[in-house]
Amino acid sequence: MKISIVGTGYVGLCTGVGFASKGNDVICVDIDKEKVDKINSGIPPIYEQGLEEMLKKNLDEKRIRATADIKDAVMNSDVTFISVGTPSWEDGSIDLKYIEQASLDIGNVLKEKGGYHVVVVKSTVVPETTEKVALPALEKASGKKAGEGFGVCMNPEFLKEGMALEDFLNPDRVVIGQLDEKSGSRVHKLYEAFNAPIIMTTLRTAEMIKYAANAFLAAKIGMINEIGNLCKRLGIDTNEVANGIGHDKRIGDKFLRSGIGFGGSCFPKDVKALIAKSRESGYEPVILDHVIKMNNEQPLQIFELLKRKMPDISGKTIAILGLAFKAETDDIREAPALKIVDALVKAGAKVKAYDPKAMDNFRKEFPDITYCSNAAEAIEGSEVCLILTDWKEFDLSDKDFESMSNRLILEGRRILRKEKVKEFEGVCW
Ligand code: UGA
Repeated sequence: MKISIVGTGYVGLCTGVGFASKGNDVICVDIDKEKVDKINSGIPPIYEQGLEEMLKKNLDEKRIRATADIKDAVMNSDVTFISVGTPSWEDGSIDLKYIEQASLDIGNVLKEKGGYHVVVVKSTVVPETTEKVALPALEKASGKKAGEGFGVCMNPEFLKEGMALEDFLNPDRVVIGQLDEKSGSRVHKLYEAFNAPIIMTTLRTAEMIKYAANAFLAAKIGMINEIGNLCKRLGIDTNEVANGIGHDKRIGDKFLRSGIGFGGSCFPKDVKALIAKSRESGYEPVILDHVIKMNNEQPLQIFELLKRKMPDISGKTIAILGLAFKAETDDIREAPALKIVDALVKAGAKVKAYDPKAMDNFRKEFPDITYCSNAAEAIEGSEVCLILTDWKEFDLSDKDFESMSNRLILEGRRILRKEKVKEFEGVCW
């Protein structure tokens, strides 16, 4: 099928490359000419495992290209995905201006385009957005009626950063919200090549499924962290508890890793957006509100643990291993490391940090701490080492810590192993 995708962020580009690798012809659109040039020369503007190789392969096989010209993209495709950003307002609700603008731009082209075209909202948007924002903008700009001149669908994405391509190619399920059967059947066809159940719903149900999934996962992490904070005080390893409950199929063993809390661009933002939508609809959310409150505090559990072990950290040299919100990404949005480093700096500690991918991004927020070129350099001469991201390279051994001037090793993600490191403590274990 011929597909165009508006917006080349994590979701847009991975979706584009993923669809291309399934044999579709893909045109990626972005208003940023620099991004367009990069993509056309095989350089993804973002880091994502395996993306560069797969982009290059599909460029070579002429199944993907990028353009800044939306007319070119829509005219030469049968389906257009909207995958633009939805930034947050101060109150947590999302700003839909890019969704509206993209819909107007697509609608303008549809005015001139003959034949049937389907527009699919892929960005994460609160329930009712496709019906109340995208659809009217498409109708207004095209002068055509949705369901007659063009079709509309909502197809949420469930990709995890760092695993985005793998998740795209091997989804647990595909959810397609459809305006009508004609719209839905075209998008259904596109996903038949994937070995996954396809769930057809209304537009607003598909939007809610995305938020409900993220809210459940965020709450699950919040719950295991709460159990973990208690376990820590009772001398219990939460990971053993997680293993014990994870075998219960009703609970499941995924997303039960306790630690310094969830970060990233999705869980915090999506839960806040759902809270705002809930209030707007007249329902005061109870659990969702506490998921956010608890997660705001969770990074500081490791700071408190450190203070219990070393009451005065002023002037102490502290190695930080890991700045990204999770491994395999350079993303530091809502990363627990931001709050922890801030607390350390305010307490007068000297911070020496290392992360394999996220240092450039972190430097923009904290230009004055010391950045090291590897873990060994950060560890050398430090009195404390805090591990904040579960990069595989931080699975270190005793000898890696020999160069510390004092040995206090605390981890916020479970990466060290008792067989390799004699003495360390985890935030919830
Ligand atoms: C999340 C969802 O997992 C995706 O399904 C969804 O598509 C995506 O949001 C989105 O809405 O775009 P992502 O934010 O990329 O994906 O990353 P996750 O792997 O889910 O991790 C989020 C945070 O939770 C990380 O800080 C991670 O360290 C933390 N986490 C995860 C835990 O603390 N414990 C766990 O057991 C799992």
